[in-house]
Order: sequence, then structure tokens, then C-alpha cells
Amino acid sequence: MDSRPIGVFDSGVGGLSAVRVLRALLPGEDILYFGDTANVPYGGKSVEELRALASASSRLLAGKGAKALLVACGTVSSNCLEVVGRASGLPCCGVLRGAALRACNTTRNGRVGVLSTEATARSGAFEREIRALRPELAVFSFGTSRLVPLAEAGRTEYSDPLVREAVEDAAARFSGSGIDTLILGCTHFPLLAPALARAFEGVRLIDSGETGAGEFMGLLRARGLLSAKKRGGRVTAFVSGGIESFERSAGLFLPGGLDDIRAVDA
Ligand code: DGL
Repeated sequence: MDSRPIGVFDSGVGGLSAVRVLRALLPGEDILYFGDTANVPYGGKSVEELRALASASSRLLAGKGAKALLVACGTVSSNCLEVVGRASGLPCCGVLRGAALRACNTTRNGRVGVLSTEATARSGAFEREIRALRPELAVFSFGTSRLVPLAEAGRTEYSDPLVREAVEDAAARFSGSGIDTLILGCTHFPLLAPALARAFEGVRLIDSGETGAGEFMGLLRARGLLSAKKRGGRVTAFVSGGIESFERSAGLFLPGGLDDIRAVDA
């Protein structure tokens, strides 16, 4: 048993899709969340830039006393997960394996899509995870930069013309693929899940924030790191950019909201 907080980070509000599930699974755990909003979006950055940002985020949360880290960012998980353990010295887990496993167990026709940021698509990491589990599956990938800014701005409704256009464009990239399962490989995308479900009608959507939270709980349990507390966990967020807009969007995505929010230097 370990009463120290867990650490979770992402480029912005996307990782809250994992926090929302962690709150439900582990209501006694205190959570330190870092949203690197001064540097969002991560999806267009080089591997070198991502390494530097991931190390800084990991060190920040380790310095604040986290006992383990969930990298609630598909882009960092795909491109440089190894730097997180090295920089923090803590047990850590990303969001790839849980989502790949769920997709492999969900597809009926063996055709799986991965919708992600551009940097994640470029890395090919989701394909490798899926093929390691089920080499016979057909995997189709597309990276987009259009959805993250919408989620950051709290614009998620299909009735919003910009959202509709972006999700329909994403769906069009998979037309003819015959996928029956789609991994939302960027943790911002589950925040747009109802709009994406409309555009990808009949396709099962896998929330990488949710599956990452499940995998992380398994890691905490296996290492004896769960808190003895069963309720009353607090969520403290740190942001490197403006507090107000983060708080507004976080309020939409995290039932119950954040207990505390503080600014930190990027
Ligand atoms: N939410 C992150 C991801 O899962 C980062 C998206 C971005 O900042 O471009 O990929």
C-alpha cells in the first residue's frame, strides 16, 4: 500500500479522459495531473521535441511526489515512452497496449482503424502493438491535427459546423477500409466521442484514455502501489498555460471537476 499520489500527464485536457476513468476505478487515489498547455498540440512536433517535453513533464510530477506515472498521451506513448521511466525513475505506463488489446478482442471482421495525431501515425507504434498481438489483422491509420484544438476549446458537439466537418473528414479517410473497430489513439478524441460515433456509424470506438487507465490500475496493483484509502481522492492539476480556459474545458469533461488548479512554468 502506498498513499502517495499518482501522476498523469498530457499536452492539455485530453488526459482527463483517463483521469475520469481513474476516478471511477480508484476513488481513493490522489491524482496529480499535468497539462502542458503552453506546448499543446504535441501532434506536429518532432521526436526530439517530444522527448524533451516528456522528460520535463515526468520530472515535474516526480518532483511533486508522484509514485507512478500514466502517460495519458498517445503521442508521447508512441514516440518516446522510454524517456518517461528514465527521467522520473518511476514505474510508468502509456496508452498503447491497453487500446491495442481491447481492439484485438473487439474486432469481428479483423479490420481495425487507428485515428491519432500525425506524430503518432508516423511512429507506426499502434500498428506494431496490434500486430504483436494478432499479426493477421488489417490495420488502417490516419493522423489528424484538426481534433485536438477543438477538444482544447471545449467544442465537441456534432452540431458545431467545425466539429462536424473535422469528424466527417476523419471518417472519409477510412472509407472503403471496412473497419468495424476504431482506436481513438489520441486521448483528446474520447472527448469528442459522441460526434465521432455519428461520423463512424456502426464502428466500435476504443477510448485509449479508458483502456490506459485500466492498464495503469493493473500496474499499481502488481507493484503494491495502490492506496489503502477507498474514497476521498483529490485531483490537483498543474498547467503550463492559461488556467481559465483549461478549467473551463476540464469542467466539461471531468464530472465533479478539479479540486485544485495551479500554474507552473513550462
Ligand atoms: N492527447 C495527446 C495524444 O494522446 C496529444 C495531442 C496533441 O497535443 O496533439 O496524442
